[in-house]
Amino acid sequence: MTEKVLGLKCRECGRQYPKEPFHVCEFCFGPLEVDYNYEAIQKSISRESIEQGPESLWRYADLLPIDGEPTDGLNSGFTPLIRAKNLEAVLGVEALYIKDDSVCHPTLSFKDRVVAVALSKAKEFGFDTVSCASTGNLANSVAANAAIANLNCFIFIPADLEMGKVVASLVYAPTVVGIAGNYDDVNRLCSEIAGVYPWAFANINIRPFYAEGSKTFTYEIIEQLGWEAPDHIVVPAAGGSLITKVGKALKEFHTLGLIDKPQTRIHIAQAEGCGPIVTTVKENSDFVKPVKPDTIAKSLAIGNPADGIYAAATVQDSGGYGEHASDDEIIEAIKLLAATEGIFTETAGGVTLAAAQKLIESGRISRDERIVISITGNGLKTIEALDSRVPEPHVIQPQLNAFRKLMTTL
Ligand SMILES: Cc1ncc(COP(=O)(O)O)c(C=O)c1O
Ligand SMILES: [Zn+2]
Repeated sequence: MTEKVLGLKCRECGRQYPKEPFHVCEFCFGPLEVDYNYEAIQKSISRESIEQGPESLWRYADLLPIDGEPTDGLNSGFTPLIRAKNLEAVLGVEALYIKDDSVCHPTLSFKDRVVAVALSKAKEFGFDTVSCASTGNLANSVAANAAIANLNCFIFIPADLEMGKVVASLVYAPTVVGIAGNYDDVNRLCSEIAGVYPWAFANINIRPFYAEGSKTFTYEIIEQLGWEAPDHIVVPAAGGSLITKVGKALKEFHTLGLIDKPQTRIHIAQAEGCGPIVTTVKENSDFVKPVKPDTIAKSLAIGNPADGIYAAATVQDSGGYGEHASDDEIIEAIKLLAATEGIFTETAGGVTLAAAQKLIESGRISRDERIVISITGNGLKTIEALDSRVPEPHVIQPQLNAFRKLMTTL
């Protein structure tokens, strides 16, 4: 087959670059993006060829930027798309689906998708050390996958992350560095480190490759809906990469003739305490004003999002909208999803459901259209958020009488 990846291309000025671990245009400082040869890909891809592929995100390998066979994340992706009947009844909508990446293998968030591609690519480039700046989930995934691949691993996180996120990196025995600052400080420091140490930083120097892994979240939704795009999708954003790739995935499947022209409205969800991209969408602007994060949704706490303007443009071009969620709304939405669909999501999932509720109530999402809510992370990693927000267990003596007595009080 002819080369499916032509190289990298600047999103701003279109200048082309070879397939190398670069992420910024030397001329205009625009971000680089993987440039595919869709004509060549179209010759080898079909619905059938995808359906016969592995039960992992690698069934879409033709649209992922690695040269050889995938070597990482071989069991990642391929998560359930759940018809959420109970939640439909509560929200008063007709066709609601949950894409559930809270059970993505191996580290229970959608970041296992991006890391599958990032580490496969890092090995092709010959790196022996991988790293990342992370709000938690990416750290967990890079650490786990580095352990599997026998790569050295350095993790950089804000020092005040949730215990579940910190332990779920430490357990794989990478070097974990907690920075006294927020994610934007961590990211700035990592950009400097990446200039000095010859490491593959998943979301810095190999970001163009890493980001492509996010597309598989949307490819799967389309395939699971019987090769149809939904009418609405609600997506959480931090750096804005995932939501940008929702737009790219929809376009690519149409370009390749796998689906009809999608009419999907892409809606963005962020916390009130860190929602710079949603603010851009609400103000219908093309500028993202950085903020200082203050929210319980720590995984989404990026005040100066790398892909902010592209994320906002993705939403605006699709006819979608955005909503902020307050800390209380996040917690209520976490509890609602658990009580209706049995899914325990982390704070980011609470943000997404809370935003979806507002979009439905305001009429931005029609009640009779097909809606997908993106659940991207697992609640067991952010249990602090529910401190004193769920009742204490009833503690009794191990005697039937004690239980009978309890029953009279319930
Ligand atoms: C659970 C979860 N959902 C969504 C996101 C947002 O991803 P992006 O930075 O691609 O916007 C993150 C980022 O860390 C995350 O951890
Ligand atoms: Zn450029």
